[in-house]
Amino acid sequence: MSRKKFLMGNWKMNHTIEEAEAFCDDVKEMGLVKKARAKSVMIGVAPSYLSLQAVRKHAHGLIVASQDVHYANHGAYTSSVSIPMLEEINVDWSIVGHSEKRQYEGETDLDCNQKIKALVANRFHAIYCVGESAKEYDAGLTKDVIAMQVMVGLLDLSKEEIGNVVIAYEPVWAIGTGKNASAEIAEDICKFIRSLLEKHFGKVASQKALILYGGSVKPESIHGYLQQEDVDGALVGGASLKSQSFQELLNNI
Ligand code: 13P
Repeated sequence: MSRKKFLMGNWKMNHTIEEAEAFCDDVKEMGLVKKARAKSVMIGVAPSYLSLQAVRKHAHGLIVASQDVHYANHGAYTSSVSIPMLEEINVDWSIVGHSEKRQYEGETDLDCNQKIKALVANRFHAIYCVGESAKEYDAGLTKDVIAMQVMVGLLDLSKEEIGNVVIAYEPVWAIGTGKNASAEIAEDICKFIRSLLEKHFGKVASQKALILYGGSVKPESIHGYLQQEDVDGALVGGASLKSQSFQELLNNI
């Protein structure tokens, strides 16, 4: 089955509002959204909460995602942002379960599940990140870890709801390290994730699902990943920050 390709930049804690707007203006000038459409590639960025509204206004067709979200609509959750707050500024995509949230803030698979359920119930798209640590990789536990993250994170979702979830395989040992997983490893795990989706949600849903690879993806390496049958796109940190490099990522898909 032919699926769309997806290039998503996760800016993490980078770019002031001014820098984020300048990126968007460059994207417009370079005509990247048009180029992406012509190649059947979806492109987007996930800025900091503070820049979200500005980027939304300057997006010119880019998908705009938040880097996280709270499952509750409101309440005493200092520093969090809710779905209605995102809706108000026309943002309807959110990353969930990034390894930096799991590592530094103790986010669990069940937390992710609550967030994903809240997102899809509100017709948002979720980008659910999964991935093993270096220790787990070395111990040969990758598939066990991924199976658990997929099972718990997507618990109680319907076949229809899974259509609004993109999965990103991001091995923790490859994030920001320059030590990217080989295209063969990415394909092996993305294929495995698709088989898990088939087990839980059926063949049709699993064939439609977009599965991305993330971890030190660069303009030079993106093509190798995207050539793989089960890798539908890339979630890119560092190399997505500069408009020039973002353009090269798109060109090389
Ligand atoms: P890098 O591309 O900087 O390794 O980051 C990957 C990532 O964590 C995207 O979410």
